[in-house]
Amino acid sequence: MAKRTKINTLLNSPEPIDDVLVKGWVRTRRDSKTFSFIEVNDGSCLKNIQVVADGSLGNYEDVKKITTGSAVSIQGKLVASQGKGQHWELIATQVNLIHMAPEDFPLQKKRHSDKFLRSIAHLRPRTNKYGAIFRIRSELSYAIHHFFKQRDFRYIHTPIITSSDCEGAGELFRVTTMPLDNLPLKDGKPDYLNDFFGKETGLTVSGQLAVEMFALSLGDVYTFGPTFRAENSNTSRHVAEFWMVEPEMAFCDLEGNMDLGEEMIQDLCGTILQNCKEDIELFARFVDKSLMKTLEGIINSSFVRLPYLEAVDILKHSNKKFEFKIKKGMDLQSEHERYLTEEHFKKPVIIYDYPKDIKAFYMRLNDDGETVAAMDVLVPKIGEIIGGSQREERLSVLEQRIAETALSKDTYWWYLDSRRFGSVPHSGFGLGFERLLMLLTGVSNIRDVIPFPRTPNSIEF
Ligand code: 4AD
Ligand code: MG
Repeated sequence: MAKRTKINTLLNSPEPIDDVLVKGWVRTRRDSKTFSFIEVNDGSCLKNIQVVADGSLGNYEDVKKITTGSAVSIQGKLVASQGKGQHWELIATQVNLIHMAPEDFPLQKKRHSDKFLRSIAHLRPRTNKYGAIFRIRSELSYAIHHFFKQRDFRYIHTPIITSSDCEGAGELFRVTTMPLDNLPLKDGKPDYLNDFFGKETGLTVSGQLAVEMFALSLGDVYTFGPTFRAENSNTSRHVAEFWMVEPEMAFCDLEGNMDLGEEMIQDLCGTILQNCKEDIELFARFVDKSLMKTLEGIINSSFVRLPYLEAVDILKHSNKKFEFKIKKGMDLQSEHERYLTEEHFKKPVIIYDYPKDIKAFYMRLNDDGETVAAMDVLVPKIGEIIGGSQREERLSVLEQRIAETALSKDTYWWYLDSRRFGSVPHSGFGLGFERLLMLLTGVSNIRDVIPFPRTPNSIEF
């Protein structure tokens, strides 16, 4: 008996094949008087293989009962198709039912709303669109590792459970083994000395602080993993659990950091356009008609680099009505970011040198004493996709920043150590993996590019 071949391989076959075995799920079945067409998909590519099941098959009466969503195993001959729309088809010599899906299989229609599919996130990868998204997601992960490997970066696994809040924004999900219905208290507060780690812990919001320690020993490094934020922002660009790519480079300043961010986005867009052609075309046809133009624009033109103050000036002098009126010193809202990148410049923009008061404690203080060497990369349709900075490498300045931001020096003793022993200028950033996927596919809701989205009041299992 032939070994199973993936449909992707068969559809790219240079020649007919006498005996092949395909396994997959039935998308549709159409019967004529003497034979049936069965469209089978096994997830290896967007396209289905068309199976011709002739009336002469011993179990043809059963074949005619096979439903959408059923799992089948089909042996047959790969031949040039007479019909339109496919080069190859499979003339079945045997059709075996692996499992029959009952009539209430929810994916009967061709098109369902994204909202409905979100409510059955466990089944949506069986559709064309979501199959394509998750193949691209997989390819993008490999492309990221490849990008760094080519540049001699080392891949570091930073911890998920942590006792320090990297962004200092208090958005940590707590991790505890203490009984919540009978919490041990001390002076009216939870007594973390009684907890698993003997101190207060949570899920990491960023691997940065940990990965910095490795930049200061291995040179160029990155971490790429899940991060968690308990921020109650119900937007199309935020999820509570997302993946972040965080490179960190020793002996690198803000400019080198911007260079890497720009190069990385361009390189990854190029790689995915090349490696996921068929899947990307689906999005360009059905999801975002301007997708190719956007992606080619990103690949072929250099990003604008603009100090924060100049960005504020542009926003002030624009005739655009913003919900939040722009004022010097405030953080840019997503509407401001999108105006700059979508309407004003019409390409990616890197804003740098933000006021220190709106940024995290670890960013390097500029000589003006007012701003920090921070950078955000903004892209059309999304706004912020990268946030990063040159890091404060001077011990005394860092200690002062920690004090100013009311963080505890004791929590960060190990971080401060790195500024005591061979401290060097270094820089890094965090790229939102899902936001990059949104950019690549034109999908406008972040919930639709992650296998099982976690958002306020919503978690499937
Ligand atoms: O700008 P952020 O908060 O930066 C950091 O966490 C730094 N410690 C990273 C570093 O320098 N190593 O987050 C980085 C990126 C954002 O630009 C955005 O793309 C993404 O992470 N991001 C989110 N993506 C989805 N859902 C959320 N709730 C996100 N929060 C941030
Ligand atoms: Mg940010």
